[in-house]
Amino acid sequence: MTAPPEPQVIDFSPNDLAALQALGRRLGKLVARGDVICLNGPLGAGKTTMTQAMAQGMGLPADQPVTSPTYGIIHEHWGKHQEEYRGAPRREHQGQLPLFHLDLYRLGGAEEELLELGIEDYLYGDGVCVIEWPDRLGQLKPAVRLEVEIEFSGPTGRRVSLRDHAAGWTARLARESISQG
Ligand SMILES: Nc1ncnc2c1ncn2[C@@H]1O[C@H](COP(=O)(O)OP(=O)(O)OP(=O)(O)O)[C@@H](O)[C@H]1O
Ligand SMILES: [Mg+2]
Repeated sequence: MTAPPEPQVIDFSPNDLAALQALGRRLGKLVARGDVICLNGPLGAGKTTMTQAMAQGMGLPADQPVTSPTYGIIHEHWGKHQEEYRGAPRREHQGQLPLFHLDLYRLGGAEEELLELGIEDYLYGDGVCVIEWPDRLGQLKPAVRLEVEIEFSGPTGRRVSLRDHAAGWTARLARESISQG
């Protein structure tokens, strides 16, 4: 078996909250159906903040806020289809892509527990899956994905690196900067 190619790395240095939010909104505008986005970083690094900004960039309404779930592990955001589609991650929907926000912090990492939650319906579903503490997925982590690493570089500064694991993000970002001239 040949090893998969090394993922391309793209680095950013948002030096305050607003800059990280702007990056999140920018990524949210570039998402595609079936995307899996893994958010890595220590407690308080800004994973939930990044998810909120992505939701904004995806055009999800502000009145269905992305929160840091105290008990919940999976939060579904169906935007304008909220009532129709709740709890049906594989259902067809029009226009607006749903966001599935997974915060796996409280999971031990047992595969059975994840499978019982129906995790695969989200990972291989019809929306965009954004995952905090993605290493809890172990072997279940999809091969095709965007890995985001958020590190502290000061009180409000962060370093954010994107690793594109064959999900076309490098091309998407390149196309975006060309179209912006
Ligand atoms: N540049 C920055 N980027 C992101 N968050 C920042 C920045 N500067 C300050 N903050 C603050 O840091 C906190 C980040 O909290 P957040 O809940 O997003 O972290 P998290 O990575 O999701 O943590 P957890 O692992 O507990 O889920 C927020 O209170 C936010 O206002
Ligand atoms: Mg969080």
